[in-house]
Amino acid sequence: MTVYAIIGGTGLTELDGLTISAVLNLDTPYGAPSAPVLRGNYAGREVLFLARHGHPHRIAPHQVNYRANLWALKHAGAQAIVAVNAVGGIHPAMGTGHFCVPHQIIDYTSGREHTFFEGELEHVTHVDFSYPYDAALREQLTAALATGGCAFSGEGVYACTQGPRLETVAEIARLERDGCDIVGMTGMPEAVLARELELPYACLALVVNPAAGKSTGIITMAEIEQALAEGIDKVKAVLARVLAE
Ligand code: HPA
Repeated sequence: MTVYAIIGGTGLTELDGLTISAVLNLDTPYGAPSAPVLRGNYAGREVLFLARHGHPHRIAPHQVNYRANLWALKHAGAQAIVAVNAVGGIHPAMGTGHFCVPHQIIDYTSGREHTFFEGELEHVTHVDFSYPYDAALREQLTAALATGGCAFSGEGVYACTQGPRLETVAEIARLERDGCDIVGMTGMPEAVLARELELPYACLALVVNPAAGKSTGIITMAEIEQALAEGIDKVKAVLARVLAE
């Protein structure tokens, strides 16, 4: 059976209901991951869990050691990765509380360590990244969302910005012209590093605020926290359904 790893984002620094069998303090050639990798049983299934921002939540999106995180999960035995990401909604369908399982991503980040393929290489390697997310894993997520009666979009384009600040209204208007539906800060380089390690990867995105200029006011941490508090049980239920299948 496939060993899934879950990368928990903001609002999901721990997975209650996970019966932990091992706490793996792993070191990698790229340094330490954000937190120990937890191995355990969730929904009757062996699973690995890693808190992307550390536990407690303390590592900003641009400072996450994505290479160490992906390397650690691969070496702990992960065979597929479900990433959970809190995002802002750009497309009118992406209201607060809506889920999106993106099919594409545009990388607007800069200066992040974004590849394993550097330094003294035998060959320069260019991985195919036409379709950044694994189709079968996306289907499992959308099926679980549908069964759970969640409002969701089965596709969407994820804009990954550098953060940690939120965007300006003009930046969001530009992302919209680029065809982006949701915006977050952690989708890249995570997705491409998974691809470089040949790990199927998909993203379960929860909209926690309308992106800049998409509502009448400004964006507050309070509204984001409230949306996370309201949505997180649904996230856990979706993950449980995916694993139970
Ligand atoms: N922009 C970028 N990242 C985010 C947002 C946003 O509006 N909301 C949650 N993560």
